Amino acid sequence: MEQIEVQTEFAKDALHGLSAKPKYLSSKYFYDDRGSQIFQDIMRMPEYYLTDCELEIFQTQKRSIFEEFVKSSDGFELVELGAGDGLKTKILLTHFLNQQVDFRYAPIDISRVAIENLVNDLNKQIPDLKVKGRIGDYFELMKEIEINGYSRKIILFLGSNIGNYSPEESISFLDNLKAVMQNQDMVFIGFDLKKESHIILNAYNDPHGHTAAFNLNLLQRINTELDANFDLNNFSHKELYNSDSGTAKSYLMSKIAQEVNIQSLDKTIHFEDGEKVFMERSQKYDLEMINKLAEKSGFEIVRNFFDQRQYFVNSLWKIK
Ligand code: AVI
Repeated sequence: MEQIEVQTEFAKDALHGLSAKPKYLSSKYFYDDRGSQIFQDIMRMPEYYLTDCELEIFQTQKRSIFEEFVKSSDGFELVELGAGDGLKTKILLTHFLNQQVDFRYAPIDISRVAIENLVNDLNKQIPDLKVKGRIGDYFELMKEIEINGYSRKIILFLGSNIGNYSPEESISFLDNLKAVMQNQDMVFIGFDLKKESHIILNAYNDPHGHTAAFNLNLLQRINTELDANFDLNNFSHKELYNSDSGTAKSYLMSKIAQEVNIQSLDKTIHFEDGEKVFMERSQKYDLEMINKLAEKSGFEIVRNFFDQRQYFVNSLWKIK
């Protein structure tokens, strides 16, 4: 019998996905240091409208957002899941601080570099802000967040990060979230909305090649961490969008028939000419889908904040 020693979850998932039919890899592994850097490049591209939309919402509606967040004089903890460089959140933080309300910002990210940079940055830029950065998995850290000095918490999950989950994963994510929330807590979620296909395809099939590099970096990560010999030149990036379901999907396509060896797993993977590896889902929503998701997971929508073009919505939810 073939004996494979699987050391890490990454190795296990890569082996599983590349042995499956059709092949897939999980986009949750995109974010090593290089991947996080490429994602910053993506967010700065004009074609990647999502960042601009959320920035616009925060800039133009920070007063109303604050009013909804702060219904009493009680202080609160503002938790952010997957904070990254906190660029958009800084707009809210500065505004909230000027309102003289007692709150603490608690960003969480899997990347140590991201959290260290963000906390240093905030200490310099907004010295009066109370910040407690945390590094690691959202839900392990959630337990810690449950017990803090504040009677309420508001959880930010921005950027349409939720769209990278499958429908089942979204429900289980929201279930887990609800489990660490109290009745007076709220969650503020960014959803990218359905729109004309070409706008979405432009954001993901970008002319600068950043999205292709983002996907290819995962093959590079397998090369480095699992001792594989992927030739990145032999794969190209492809994005498909289904305007009925609102699902955008990223693939890497093998340009030739080829064998790739993953030494640490003692495994050779065969790729057909034109064979696709499914890499990432980026779900686009309509309001009916958002309502259903809230209802199915036991939440109630408090208020939706849209950008002018109605490309994006930040939806504020409380427990039903
Ligand atoms: C993080 N996430 C919401 C991004 C998205 O739009 O799905 C990741 C991304 N993938 C390609 N471009 C950006």
